Amino acid sequence: MDVPPANDGLDPSRRKLLKGGAYATTLAAAYGWLSPGTGTAQTATPAPSPAPYLEPFLDPLPVSPVKSPTLLYPRPGRLPVPGEAGREPHQRYEEFLPQREYELVARAARHRYHLHLPEETVWGYDGLVPGPTFVTRIGQPVMVRVRNALPQEHVGFGSPEIITHLHSGHVGSAADGFTGSYYSPIKAGPNLRYPGAFYDHHYPQYPSNGDLRKVTNTLWYHDHREDYTGPNVYRGLAGFYLTFDALDSGSEHTGLRLPSGVGRYDIPLLLQDRKFDSGGNLVYEQFDPEGFLGNHFLVNGKVQPYFRVEGRKYRFRLLNGSMARWFEMVLADEGNRFHNFTFIGSDGNLLERPLTLQKILLSMAERADIIIDFSKYPPGTKLYLLNRLEQNDPRKPSGDRLNPGIRMLRFEVGPRTADNSVIPSFLRPLAPMPDPRDVGIRRKWDFERNNGQWSINGKFFDAERVDAAPGLQVPEIWRLETSGGWAHPVHVHLDDFRILSIDGKAPPPEWRGRKDTIPMLPGTRAEILVQFHDFTGKYVMHCHHHAHEDHAMMIRFDVVPKNT
Ligand code: C2O
Ligand code: CU
Repeated sequence: MDVPPANDGLDPSRRKLLKGGAYATTLAAAYGWLSPGTGTAQTATPAPSPAPYLEPFLDPLPVSPVKSPTLLYPRPGRLPVPGEAGREPHQRYEEFLPQREYELVARAARHRYHLHLPEETVWGYDGLVPGPTFVTRIGQPVMVRVRNALPQEHVGFGSPEIITHLHSGHVGSAADGFTGSYYSPIKAGPNLRYPGAFYDHHYPQYPSNGDLRKVTNTLWYHDHREDYTGPNVYRGLAGFYLTFDALDSGSEHTGLRLPSGVGRYDIPLLLQDRKFDSGGNLVYEQFDPEGFLGNHFLVNGKVQPYFRVEGRKYRFRLLNGSMARWFEMVLADEGNRFHNFTFIGSDGNLLERPLTLQKILLSMAERADIIIDFSKYPPGTKLYLLNRLEQNDPRKPSGDRLNPGIRMLRFEVGPRTADNSVIPSFLRPLAPMPDPRDVGIRRKWDFERNNGQWSINGKFFDAERVDAAPGLQVPEIWRLETSGGWAHPVHVHLDDFRILSIDGKAPPPEWRGRKDTIPMLPGTRAEILVQFHDFTGKYVMHCHHHAHEDHAMMIRFDVVPKNT
């Protein structure tokens, strides 16, 4: 019997419908900014892959536990404390003294990706895949101690030396998880609760420039080890970090009154693909700088789970945590008809006004904050989060759509329940940006393939080389260009940016707010407005395709005080 390449969650008799060219539309048609003529023909054939058949919707959706605060010992400080890996002093530490302390332990654990798959050894924060969810507040500075208890001697892919980055975090350089600042597990005496060296990350919980219009709510943390981010994240080192403030209050009775209750009606969804061999073992193709695609689809660490929902509104925080896979997510019913959802924020930033959408594109590291109202559906209804984007190789999505697509998550709607949440007509005002005509500093960044690896402006990443030194608070326009046949989601640390144009056009409404990652298809030119506030020191910009990032598509920029 033939093994189907990947399980789309459909009845096998319907699988033939999958590549219906008549239904194919291009990304260009949808987003209007892809150069015309790309991806109109359906040519590429997926390489045959011995994926095991896995029956979908057998596992319940895992919902990560909320991380509990603790009291750290030894007490953390501005300078490294005994047992801590070397680092620079934390910036503005006394101003933002930690009010909440957490300890995360990166360690090996056993995990099953699907009911019918064998247990695998994963690396997880607190041994969980995904890691626990942080629930934090603006104005309450946080210290996260990340203890490295990974196996020093390990077999297979990945590096047990780690450094954790808070993606979209507005934090000092010493807390950012600079890719070169990784540290090893060190065996300590039996008197310590967990062995291993640690690194203290100081998160001030302070919006950029003190401007509450720049609060970012959906962040995620993941390993950022130089050259090994791909395998380490693939092994499981990633989790959500949520921030609440007076508007996005975390309550259905105050502020915007969005659907609330992390893990209950406010659910983070980590979307990833993974590759399994025919024996059901996880595969990582370590030596290919192109990266690779998975042959199964995971939500929160399980292949195609189901989630029983009440008949009320839910908030879902979608995150593409894949290495090379792009998604276009839609909400569909059993008959593959698409349903509207409400899109409230991108990359963690609430838009000014919610958008009613039927699809959302997510390149790697991008987030979509959406609301689905299940009270519209009779109990017993089944709905699916479906990925419609066809992608046949790790370079880029083909530009065509799958019909209907891969059912990644099934919602099983239950009876209606009380719901005090609302979908407000206005969310968060957008801080005005400086007039681009007044911006004097411009830089250009070319993302290119180079000798089988990946370069920016012809150079490979060097943690010791400073590629740009933007001044604190000084706005700059960065022109990004991609060439060849590869897509690159470009991510900037420290401060979110604004997209001024993509191929000469205004960005689609979903991307008109603040962003930290911009999906760049092959041959794209974009202009972004960057402006760094509050903290100085070393940061990075890079492609978030982990194989590209690990094969050197990254620059270091040092934010410097304005008048030097
Ligand atoms: Cu999500 Cu520099 O990374
Ligand atoms: Cu890339």
